[in-house]
Amino acid sequence: MNIGATRRLFPLTNNYTYLNTAGCGLMSVQTVEAARNFYDEFYALAILGKDEWIPRTEYVRKVAAGFLNVEADQLAFVPDVATAANHVAHMFREPVEVLLVANEFPSVSLPWYAAGHEVKLVKPGENGEVIIEKIEEAVTGKTKILCISHVHFDTGYRNDLKPLGDLCRSKNIIFLVDSTQSLGAFPLDIKESNIDILVSNCYKWITAGFGITLMYVSKTLTDHWNIPALGCNSMDMVAMKPGGEMMHLLRKGAPVLEVGQPEYENIFRLGSAIELLSSLGLDNIHARVSMLTDHLYSRLKENNITIHFEQPAKNRSSLVMAEGTWDTVVALKKKNIIVSPSKGKGIRISPHFYNTEEEIDLLCEELRKLKA
Ligand SMILES: Cc1ncc(COP(=O)(O)O)c(C=O)c1O
Repeated sequence: MNIGATRRLFPLTNNYTYLNTAGCGLMSVQTVEAARNFYDEFYALAILGKDEWIPRTEYVRKVAAGFLNVEADQLAFVPDVATAANHVAHMFREPVEVLLVANEFPSVSLPWYAAGHEVKLVKPGENGEVIIEKIEEAVTGKTKILCISHVHFDTGYRNDLKPLGDLCRSKNIIFLVDSTQSLGAFPLDIKESNIDILVSNCYKWITAGFGITLMYVSKTLTDHWNIPALGCNSMDMVAMKPGGEMMHLLRKGAPVLEVGQPEYENIFRLGSAIELLSSLGLDNIHARVSMLTDHLYSRLKENNITIHFEQPAKNRSSLVMAEGTWDTVVALKKKNIIVSPSKGKGIRISPHFYNTEEEIDLLCEELRKLKA
């Protein structure tokens, strides 16, 4: 990856040492341009633009499906993870037993309470690690679904999804994964890991900006489901009854959940962002993010800054929690170094491919001075 050229695509990197992609990823010049183009077209065409926007939306769906290696009609565009999880919670007509890891992100946990289901919490280990045996022990004959994040927002723990997916398959439990904190930085194989439902907001590691979330639902589920939400856009107007009356048919698969008018601008930003990540190469991005995280671990240690929730390489993500307080975050911001306070412990540092080793060195030097 040509890092100089890559950083020029993200002009904010000129002004800030931005190490907070877990809070919000940067948007590239070309992704902002995709949004601007949409508004230019809206000015010129208003509803006439739909002749172009509808096929472009389906093109982005194909691009996103290719990115996830799933079929396009199993993928819905929804605004956020909370909406997606509420949809899933309403797929069940009767209360069911749901397994969640304690302290999962609220957008994934709260919908189950709101819909009146029985939530069972499995406590992670001291270091945020998810212990599969504990999950297995918590499963009962009534358990219907396991919801878990690929990377935990507050400990940075990265789950090994395959054994969890295998467990769910063997117990006939639906496996829902929230990949908001990993997709775009770490590889993930929906089919190999037996994932039934994947939800992923794209404003962080995918770099697409706000308001666009990928929701994959397997064909096994959509073939026999209680569709949890419907609206005008859930319908295809494809058939004519004899006599010319239009017949309204429901869309097949996950897109039926796109209940209202599409958020075209957000969808086009997503298309552009995925094309950029693909052109950089997902393997290259993963290698770079892992290299930067390892570098961060080394520099924090050399500067005697405690790492909270230290993980072995196989469970490491790009979210690193380190010693510090709210005041640390404020002091760093004054130097144009952007990290976030962690809700659990310390500060959260989260480099993406557009960051450099020099930026990490600068951060650790400042942390050392603040501690002195
Ligand atoms: C694991 C995880 N899921 C989801 C989200 C975002 O949720 P929503 O899309 O409902 O805003 C976040 C945001 O920080 C997150 O860390």
